[in-house]
Amino acid sequence: MLDLVTDKTHEEARQGEAYAPFQGDPNQYKKHFYIESYGCAMNFSDSEIVASILNKEGYGATRNLQEADLVLINTCSIREKAEQTVRNRLVHFKRLKENRKGVLVGILGCMAERLKSKLLEEEKLVDMVVGPDAYRSLPALVGEAEGGQKAVNVLLSRDETYADISPVRLDSNGVSAFVSIMRGCNNMCSFCVVPFTRGRERSRNADSIVAECAELFEKGYREVTLLGQNVDSYYYTSDSGATVTFAGLLEKVALVSPLLRVRFSTSHPKDITDEVLHTIAKYENICNYIHLPVQSGSTRILQLMNRTYTREWYMAKVDRIRQIIPGCGISADIITGFCTEEEQDHQDTLSIMEYARYDYSYMFYYSERPGTLAHRRFADDVPLEVKKRRLQEVVDLQGRLSYESNQRDIGKTFTILIEGESKRSDTDWMGRSSEGKVFVFPKEDYQLKKGDYVKVMAADCTQGTMLGKITGI
Ligand code: 5AD
Ligand code: SF4
Repeated sequence: MLDLVTDKTHEEARQGEAYAPFQGDPNQYKKHFYIESYGCAMNFSDSEIVASILNKEGYGATRNLQEADLVLINTCSIREKAEQTVRNRLVHFKRLKENRKGVLVGILGCMAERLKSKLLEEEKLVDMVVGPDAYRSLPALVGEAEGGQKAVNVLLSRDETYADISPVRLDSNGVSAFVSIMRGCNNMCSFCVVPFTRGRERSRNADSIVAECAELFEKGYREVTLLGQNVDSYYYTSDSGATVTFAGLLEKVALVSPLLRVRFSTSHPKDITDEVLHTIAKYENICNYIHLPVQSGSTRILQLMNRTYTREWYMAKVDRIRQIIPGCGISADIITGFCTEEEQDHQDTLSIMEYARYDYSYMFYYSERPGTLAHRRFADDVPLEVKKRRLQEVVDLQGRLSYESNQRDIGKTFTILIEGESKRSDTDWMGRSSEGKVFVFPKEDYQLKKGDYVKVMAADCTQGTMLGKITGI
């Protein structure tokens, strides 16, 4: 859903990326945990909650697998490939255990929820299985596993939001942070396993969200991304009976400070309201960027996917966004080769991409997931080569659209939030515009640092990056 490379899936992009918190003194802990996260931003955010729970139990984080007493893997089930990646890692961890007695391995997240005790009992790959709503029980489960018991908790909850847990920021750049605002999903997109692995939708207490954002700002963070499977259906009722919608929440977070940028993900086209669009337009610090997954451009396929909108309805939503927020960045998720997809349906997808002029897309070929509505109702009947060929066409088109979008911005000036040094050169800064584009530009003699805002003129571009020059601070 966020922050990834063109034709790669989230899990591929993040593959093998292990990380650990750098807060506090690592030597203050006698025991250490090592955690790897795969999949969507929500999983990365959940790992920060897990880190907080484990810190309180006396476990410090380590990036060094050899040093870990507890090895955790936070997993994704959204496509088969994602699960295969995790299985390979689990085999690797199992070998590690054979050489170092006493190390415990736990699987967290969506795969834990989907496969339940299978990986523990049948395949003997792990010592602990912990579903997305069971992280509070992790310390008790570690105790059980240490005592040689089978430690499994995959109960889904109707109200768990971890609202009171202050996440320990992992692998953070100190500028941008994820803030979870809701959990679960009540939509039943027929291809999607998420409603089964993450349970019913529930919204987190609005005050705790605002407090977390204010604390982040105090610590020097300058950007928060509000996370949920379907943020537009955020709806919180306080004890006093007052209700907060997503538009209301956006406004509250925007008011924390004009210097705190606000982003959010993911929106469902059926739920994003004019009120949300007007709120974005009203506040300078709510970023002009909307991730609006289309999935397919064919009304017939959208119906089979249970997306509850038509091609025309989606196009009208894009028009509305451009009308209320001129220049707004728009990105999408796209699936090729869904059940019964014909060549004409695929052409409809290509043409809706042209219509929406996406700045960016996350593109996948359909992967049938056990237990989903599509698995139960339809045959997975598009041959793999066809799915892949169509995906390649979608990827190629997106490459052109991204490049054209970048070209249109040349000569314009943007306010950039500096996230750090460019990966390629320590004499360049890297940052993002409100519209979500990555800018790289020479530091020159300006006295700037991470977290500062700076005016940058776009001078040149590649498909993925704007190359700029500072015009003022
Ligand atoms: N196969 C391929 N892609 C999928 N997605 C969700 N389920 C599947 C699946 N079974 C994609 C959708 C969603 C994104 C997070 O992952 O595009 O928006
Ligand atoms: Fe899956 Fe649809 Fe919910 Fe997104 S909105 S998590 S695609 S069911």
